Order: sequence, then C-alpha cells, then structure tokens
Amino acid sequence: MTFTNSKEFAEKLDREDDLQDYRSRFFIPKDKNGNDAIYFCGNSLGLQPKSVRAYVEQELKDWETLGVEGHFHAKNPWMPYHELLTDQTARLVGAKPIEVVVMNTLTVNLHLMLVSFYRPTARRHKIVVEANPFPSDRYAVESQIRFHGFDPHRSLIELQPRAGETNLRTEDIEDVLEADGDEIALVLLGGVNYYSGQAFDMERITRTAQAQGCVVGFDLAHAVGNIPLRLHDWNVDFAVWCSYKYLNGGPGGIAGCFVHERHATNAALPRFTGWWGQNKTIRFTMGPRFDAIPGAEGWQLSNPPILPLAVLRASMDLFDAAGMERLRAKSIALTGYLEFLLDQHPSKHFSVITARDPQQRGAQLSLRVKENGRALFDHLTAHGVVCDWREPDVIRVAPVPLYNSFTEVYRFAEIFFGTTENIHRPREH
Ligand SMILES: Cc1ncc(COP(=O)(O)O)c(C=O)c1O
Repeated sequence: MTFTNSKEFAEKLDREDDLQDYRSRFFIPKDKNGNDAIYFCGNSLGLQPKSVRAYVEQELKDWETLGVEGHFHAKNPWMPYHELLTDQTARLVGAKPIEVVVMNTLTVNLHLMLVSFYRPTARRHKIVVEANPFPSDRYAVESQIRFHGFDPHRSLIELQPRAGETNLRTEDIEDVLEADGDEIALVLLGGVNYYSGQAFDMERITRTAQAQGCVVGFDLAHAVGNIPLRLHDWNVDFAVWCSYKYLNGGPGGIAGCFVHERHATNAALPRFTGWWGQNKTIRFTMGPRFDAIPGAEGWQLSNPPILPLAVLRASMDLFDAAGMERLRAKSIALTGYLEFLLDQHPSKHFSVITARDPQQRGAQLSLRVKENGRALFDHLTAHGVVCDWREPDVIRVAPVPLYNSFTEVYRFAEIFFGTTENIHRPREH
C-alpha cells in the first residue's frame, strides 16, 4: 500500500476500513481533557468490550437466583462453561478443539507444560529461549532446570541477534539448533517477542527443532489475537498464552493452553493433575483413580472461574465476527502506516527496533530512544497517548485493528514529532 503523510489520507483510510464500526463496541479511556485517549497499549491490556457487562451480569444473576444449582441450571451451566470457548479458541490459534483449553494464568500453564514436556537427561538437558525473553518465562524455565537438578548456566541457551542487529535471523536460530540439537531438550520462544515485537517463523523453527529431536513450545502472549496462528499444522508441541492483551480478556484474565493432538492421549507423559482434568463421566464419582480427559482439557487442575470466562466470551464473540484474516490485513496497514509516518522524519534520537518485514511482526512497533526516552514517553502521555515504557530505553506502541484508527496513528505521529514541547526536537537530522 502506498501511504501519504496527511490527515485527509488517514481519514480516507478510516472511511474505507470495513472494521471501523468495531471501535464503538469498546470503552475508550479518556485523556485529561475528556477526549478519547490514543490507546496504543492493547499489547499490554486490551480495552473493555461494552458487551462484557451483559455477559458477566448473566452469571451474577444466575448465581443470585440459583446458587449452587447454577452449575447445572444456569442459562449457560457453569459445569461445562469453559467449553463455550473451545471452538473459538481453536479457530483463533489454528488448532483442533481437542487441542485447546482455557484455564489458569499464563505462567501457571507454562509450568504445567514444562512438567510434561521438559524431561531433561544427562545428554539432552538444554532449553533454548530468545534473547530477552519475558522475565516470567526466564524465571519459570530456570526454576524447572534447577528442579531437575541442572544448572541454568549450563542448561539455558539464550539466542542472541548478530552484533548491531535487534532481531534474530531464522537461519541463525537454525544454526544453533543444528549445532547443539542433541543437547537441546526444549525450544521455548515467544511467538512475538514482548520487547522487540519480532514475530518468529514458528513453522520453520518447529520443523528444524523437531528434526533434531527437540520439543517445541511457544509463549503466545503477544501473538494470540495479533497474528495468524496454525499451531496444529505447524506441529507445535505445546503453547500457552494470556487473554488480557490483544484478546481483551480483562486484567489478570484467564489464560489458554494448546497441547498437540499427538500428545493428547499419551498416558506416559507425566503431568501435574487435578480433578478438573478427570474424565468427565466419572469426575463426580469422586473415586481415587485419575483418568485424564483426552486432550488439553486433561491438564486442567481446578474448576475454572466463571466471571473471567464470561469476560473472555464477550471479546471472543467480537473476534469471531471480525475474523482474524480481516484483522490481520488491517493490522498490517495500520502498523505499516505508523512505520511510514515515523520514517518521514529520520532522527538520530530514535530508531524502530522491530522488524521492517510485516511478516516478522504484529501490531507493535518498539522505538528505541537514545536519550531522555523516559521524558519523551512522559510527553506522549501528557498529550493523551497511552503506550508503554520498557526499561532501559524502549517505547512500545501498538495500534490494535479492533479499535484503533488510521487517524489516531496520524495524530500519534504529530504528537511524537511535535515541535514545541518535544524533548528531542526529532525534526533535527
Ligand atoms: C510474553 C509474556 N509472557 C508471560 C507473561 C506473564 O503472564 P502472567 O502474569 O499471566 O503469567 C507476560 C505478561 O505480560 C508476557 O507478556
């Protein structure tokens, strides 16, 4: 698409956007003047769909009037309530229904998956992660390595970009996998890295790693609802994600988990178990013998929290109606327009560290600010932009196709390059 640096052009793109009506289905936070904030932070916490209240009130009402009977007689009985999300979730991540479940929170699910899929031996004990993985993932894998009696200094490989580069090249990842493959037990990458915004070639990495006998898992916190996923076809072993970012599942919302079908009925896989993973036909006989539900549901521990599930249903219905294909097409244009506008005034003060290739990124652009980055971030905030700051020097900006507009992207660039108050005067070359 050829872009133009003008408000009229941005407005034209908005008029032509067939997803434009979705914005009105969300509550948009206000800036200090009472105008809509430019909310480019859906990669951190997605906005609240207006329909959430009705979904939650239904469950509050049923609890109010039915008490415990709601488990079986609520409008949507709570016993199988999580199953209402199965088909939509499967569509979103490119899985079969048996391969997905909505449960717990991300780091909990990651540990559950590591229990099953990280089975180190003296020879094959290493875990590969990308440079700068999300800290919780690092803590989780390091603790698992120690739990198995190994030392993270020897067993954790952190892939580094080439000197002077900010993104990993797929061929460099493959080189590591091919060189050290027989010592690598597990490859765990963020589908989209939270810091750089790089989207990895999950299919190719999975193929190469599995050819070396490694297990492959992805943390999809920044990928789900952001980029198209085909987890089943890519033959990924497992994946975990949270719902509070692009999926608008609400703060601390309920997370998701994918276990490939070929592992689903493998009783030899060790796992931590709880009664909600128990065969549904005998769960309430309360017997001592555990017989796992085939599929990802067999990894459930507890009966799930209905209210967060209700919140997530509201958003997933919007995702289903909008369709991931249309969302992705708009997202590529929206983020491409942001990149185009930022490129209009090259400056030594900031650089885009996210990949330039739209196939290697989602909605987010990460801007590295050389000096006074925090002050620039505060300037954006003071002008009604909601984005976020990640130490030591990065501002993350994520226009989200469900509720952001091209006009907002244009306005963001105006504020970013504002001449009067701008900290760096970025128009200087
Ligand atoms: C990439 C990534 N992984 C893991 C987490 C941790 O998620 P949770 O707190 O839901 O366990 C986050 C949270 O933002 C994240 O961005």
